[in-house]
Amino acid sequence: MSAAPLHDSPAWQRLQTHRQTWEGMTLRQLFQEDPQRASHFSVEACGIYLDYSKHLLRRESLNLLLDLARSRDLESRRDAMFAGEKINHSEGRAAFHAALRAPKGTVMRTDGVDVVPEVHRVLDHMAEFTEAIHSETWRGATGKPIRQIVNIGIGGSYLGPEMAWKALRAYRHPQMQLYFVANVDGATLSDVTAHLDPAETLFIISSKTFTTLETMTNAHAARQWLVDALGEEAVARHFVAVSTNTEAVKAFGMDTEHMFGFWDWVGGRYSMDSAIGLSTMLGVGVQHFQVMLAGFHAMDLHFQNAPLEKNLPVLLGLLSIWYNNFWGAQTQAILPYAYDLARFPAYLQQLQMESNGKSVNEAGQWLSVDTGPIIWGEPGTDGQHSFYQLIHQGTRLIPCDFIGFCHPLSDSAEQHELLMANLIAQAEALAFGKTADELRSEGVAEAQIPFRTFAGNRPSSVLLMDALSPHSLGTLVALYEHSVFTQGIIWGIDSFDQWGVELGKVLAQRIVSDLQGKTRHHHDGSTATLLERYLRRRGH
Ligand code: F6P
Repeated sequence: MSAAPLHDSPAWQRLQTHRQTWEGMTLRQLFQEDPQRASHFSVEACGIYLDYSKHLLRRESLNLLLDLARSRDLESRRDAMFAGEKINHSEGRAAFHAALRAPKGTVMRTDGVDVVPEVHRVLDHMAEFTEAIHSETWRGATGKPIRQIVNIGIGGSYLGPEMAWKALRAYRHPQMQLYFVANVDGATLSDVTAHLDPAETLFIISSKTFTTLETMTNAHAARQWLVDALGEEAVARHFVAVSTNTEAVKAFGMDTEHMFGFWDWVGGRYSMDSAIGLSTMLGVGVQHFQVMLAGFHAMDLHFQNAPLEKNLPVLLGLLSIWYNNFWGAQTQAILPYAYDLARFPAYLQQLQMESNGKSVNEAGQWLSVDTGPIIWGEPGTDGQHSFYQLIHQGTRLIPCDFIGFCHPLSDSAEQHELLMANLIAQAEALAFGKTADELRSEGVAEAQIPFRTFAGNRPSSVLLMDALSPHSLGTLVALYEHSVFTQGIIWGIDSFDQWGVELGKVLAQRIVSDLQGKTRHHHDGSTATLLERYLRRRGH
């Protein structure tokens, strides 16, 4: 890898020069010049068809982006990740989530230890427990079967399981109902417990560290709720833990026999396929969970083996770099045309923004280029009636990922046609727009033309899959995981730490102690005034 700052590197400079050749170029022109553009700029793998022809991209642009990736040693860095090397330098850890979905018998070593047998031991433990709940051999303290599962966890210990529970609605176990409590706002837990019968409820306390304030607070409150209803001796039948921290689980008063472990080489936001997925397994069953893992694994193999120019995560990652760093795009919209993927944008927010929201490179030097874009989105067609206006006619360039499925999950084929027609139409409208001449030929009054013109050239990817299923969900999540990795390698950052969340946590602890009257820390004028006002309004 070159030692020069990224923006001075020849590959970066060539892209900057190339970017200048884009002035005045339109997607209409590009499609006219190359009638086969759709097939030249599309690729299919692992059941995902990616159409990236509606991007502001020519063959030369792509080649230059691929050169950039090679100049950053993407392939050897990828291989290092899959080899279990400690690529998370600032925490001295591997980023070995690929081992979570490795089939039995695969050898994947980190620190000289093959972790696959241990991964499968935990998966087997999860499966055994899931079967016991489903077959009602594991019952609550009063003898009633468990029907409701409450996952208490936040961030990576919440967003993946919640997203998967919603995404796999069609695969849910008929007797199981899942709930999620993440926010430290007591309203969350009381809203959830209001619907529950304690005798039928199992709490999963999911926390990699088992120290997270929100999770521990909610766990204590849930425990109290259960004890109030069923007594102290009921706890063991109604609480299990998912964590890497055995000591903290013990200290909480939980039986480690019913603890499901994982390892420090699994980042929180890369953990939905670890024991953090216990609620998912309980919700959809062992077999569907295993199929989801197979989907993840299929994408891992593709990322490892496909040539860069046909490699889905690499292409998605390079497209993000292209707009973020060479077109000044600050955000990227994730637009699933599937009700069941409603929480996918929120899931990707953590995956991408916690991974790549960094300002220094791996050597600790301040970066000279922008890093992770702001990720946001909502399912289509809801978004069309709120924020799409800005994507179509606003002043900002917002690359979009449209995600759609050929087969509906609902019974209504007719409604699915409408849904997909909207997806395809939006990508078309964004790319090609509507010219003033077209409007005139339709008889639109001259005074209205500026308002009704669509400039077009608004780039999007379309990811088309057959159906939303455990397998396709696994491939989709792994696709974005590796796209995030690709971007991180280009920028030379550590995508696997998250020091940026620490300061707020520490300050909140100081402030809690001030609010409780235990301390009087010195604060800036604004913070002190807010604290004073809050305490006054609370009658202190
Ligand atoms: O605060 C950020 C974070 O550390 C995330 O990275 C993580 O997913 C989340 O908190 C929850 O952490 P834990 O699983 O340790 O409770």
